[in-house]
Amino acid sequence: MKLAVLPGDGIGPEIVAQAVKVLEVLNKDGMKIEMEHAPIGGAGYDAARDPLPEATLKLARAADAVLLGAVGGPQYDTLDRPLRPERGLLRIRKELNLFANLRPALLYPELASASTLKPEVVAGLDIMIVRELTGDVYFGQPRGIEMRPGPDGRAERVGFNTMIYSESEIRRVAHVAFGIAMKRGKRLCSVEKANVLECSELWREVVLEVARDYPEVELSSMYVDNAAMQLVRNPKQFDVIVTGNIFGDILSDQASMLSGSIGMLPSASLDENNKGMYEPIHGSAPDIAGKDIANPLATILSVAMMYRYTFADAATADRIENAVKKVIAQGYRTADIYTEGCKKVSCNQMGDAVVAAM
Ligand code: NAI
Ligand code: MG
Repeated sequence: MKLAVLPGDGIGPEIVAQAVKVLEVLNKDGMKIEMEHAPIGGAGYDAARDPLPEATLKLARAADAVLLGAVGGPQYDTLDRPLRPERGLLRIRKELNLFANLRPALLYPELASASTLKPEVVAGLDIMIVRELTGDVYFGQPRGIEMRPGPDGRAERVGFNTMIYSESEIRRVAHVAFGIAMKRGKRLCSVEKANVLECSELWREVVLEVARDYPEVELSSMYVDNAAMQLVRNPKQFDVIVTGNIFGDILSDQASMLSGSIGMLPSASLDENNKGMYEPIHGSAPDIAGKDIANPLATILSVAMMYRYTFADAATADRIENAVKKVIAQGYRTADIYTEGCKKVSCNQMGDAVVAAM
C-alpha cells in the first residue's frame, strides 16, 4: 500500500511523526506500507512557492491514501489568497474528489470531565457525522458581491451565494452514510432544512430513495436548527448523521466539543472508491508548535480510520484504537487533556506509549 505523508506546518510534522511510528510497527508486523513524504501548505509554499506543489499532488494521486498533519501559520497570513496554506488543503480535497467527510465524535470515559457538558449527558458518546464536502453553498454559482438598486432606489452592495446539490451528489454521500450506519448502530439521521429550502427538499427525497437499498437502517430526518439543539440536549440519541457541506461544517465542530479536546479527534475524507485523506480535525496550533507538547492521538486515530475505510482492515483499525484506549486508561495525558493525578507526557512520549500499547 502506498501512503502519501503530508506533514504540513506548525505541529503537523510533530504529530505526523508519531503516526509514522505506529505505521512502522505495522510494517514490522508485515503490513508493507510504503511511505513517501511531501510538502503541503506553508511547507509547500516554502519549498516551491505553491501550497500544493505539482509533485505533491502527483504523489497523492498515485497513493492509496493520504495522511495529512495540518496547514497554516501566522507567517503566511499576508500572502495572496491563492498562495495561502489553506488553499492547498481545499485544492487537494477538490482534486482528489473527496466528497464524503467522516468525523467521529467519541468520548473516552476517562476524559468525561474534559467535556463542557454534564458527564451523564456525554458519557459513552459515540456518533459519526458524515458531511458532504465538495458541493453546497461553498461552491455554488452564481456567487459574488455586486451593486444592485436598494429600497431607496440608490445602488447598494449585495452579497450572494447559491446553495446547490444535484441528486447524484446527494445519492453518493447518502450511500456512504448508509454503509457506515450498517457497520455501526444501524441508525441514520439526515439533517437539512426542508421546511424552507428547495435544495433541502431534494436532499430529503433522494435520501429516502437511497434508504430503500438499506432496509435494515432506521432513517430519520431532522431540521438543522433542531439538530443543533438536540446535539447538546441529548447527543447520545444519534448514531450516524448525514448532512450537506455547510450544515456539516457547523454541526461537526459543535459535536467535536462534546468530546473534550480537539487533539483527540480524527477525520477521513473519501472518494467514490474509498480512497481517502486522513487528518486530525484541528489546525497547525502555531502557539504550541515545536515544543513537543501537542497531542498526537487525533493523528494516530486518523491512521486507524485509514485502515477501517480505505484498507478495509477493521482488525488493524481496532488494534490502533485499542492501543489509544489503553494509554488513556493508563493515565497518559498530553497537556491539553491533563488533569490532576495523571501522567503528563510529551508528544513523543505519547507516540511511544501508543507503540508500547500496540
Ligand atoms: P488550531 O486547531 O490550530 O488551534 C486551536 C487551539 O487548539 C490552540 O490553542 C491549539 O494550541 C490547540 N490545539 C490544536 N491542536 C492541538 C493538539 N493536537 N494538541 C494540543 N492542542 C491543540 O486552530 P487555530 O488556532 O484557529 O488555527 C491555527 C492555524 O491552523 C491557522 O493558520 C488555521 O488556518 C489553521 N487551520 C488548519 C486546519 C487544517 O489544516 N485542517 C484546520 C483549522 C485551522
Ligand atoms: Mg470548520
